[in-house]
Amino acid sequence: SLIRRSGHTIGVLVPNINNPFFSRFLRGIESVAMDNGYIPLIFGSNNNQKLESYYLFESIRRAADGMIIASAISDVSYIDNILNQNGIPYLLTDQAPITEGDKVDVNNYHGGEMLADYLIKKGHRDVTVVTDKQPTLNLHQRLVGFLDMFKRHQMAIPNERIIETDLTKLGGYHAAKSALATKPTAIFALNDEIAIGLYRGIHEAGLRIPDDISVVGYDDIDLAEYVTPTLTTIHQPAFEMGESAAKLILARIQDQKRAFQEVSLPIELIERNSVRDIR
Ligand code: RIB
Repeated sequence: SLIRRSGHTIGVLVPNINNPFFSRFLRGIESVAMDNGYIPLIFGSNNNQKLESYYLFESIRRAADGMIIASAISDVSYIDNILNQNGIPYLLTDQAPITEGDKVDVNNYHGGEMLADYLIKKGHRDVTVVTDKQPTLNLHQRLVGFLDMFKRHQMAIPNERIIETDLTKLGGYHAAKSALATKPTAIFALNDEIAIGLYRGIHEAGLRIPDDISVVGYDDIDLAEYVTPTLTTIHQPAFEMGESAAKLILARIQDQKRAFQEVSLPIELIERNSVRDIR
């Protein structure tokens, strides 16, 4: 194995640095790291397995003291092997699979439920969902929470109303046509980026939000307040998620034997102007 010394560095792997959700997460990590004399080494994996392992090895080579992984790693045991062999503690969160270890958790299932409940109360039954092609566990739970709430109200959403795309603005834009073809009164976008892409597609189809169709998102990225109409969404505490992840990994670096700790952070529905009351 490599000869290591501490670089006072935390390696951070996120799926997509283009998404403001992850910039906010990274800023949270940065602030805690800096306060403690550490510096993050930041990588966007783009869900690319080759890049993922390249970045992992580079983090090891560049003397990272610990890793925070928020991307959907393909093979946990592989990561566990290389990091463990080199004595580097790591923490998995957000899109990463759940394993034994320190955790930063937000309740995605409940977030899905809250949005469904909100739409139902506004009178929406013909609802279409635009989700990720290859949903990671957190996104899957979000979707299931949403679908379960509709089921509980005897309004199960049929499969034709679940449209798959990429978790990006472009993905949302591309999905707009097929989503509109299902003639929904409301669309649930699994993240705000998808919602903003849908906004453009809906606009190009000559429809108006929320008069003709309602849209809700998830994350509460900064753009949610700047689009027209402002977007109703679930606020995820991305900054605090980053802070907590950094605190936990630093504590783990200091003491590899301490008991695993789990931090659970609250989410909140932010009501703005993208949903019409159709009761
Ligand atoms: O927008 C990015 C999404 O991917 C967020 O909802 C976050 O939870 C992540 O999984």
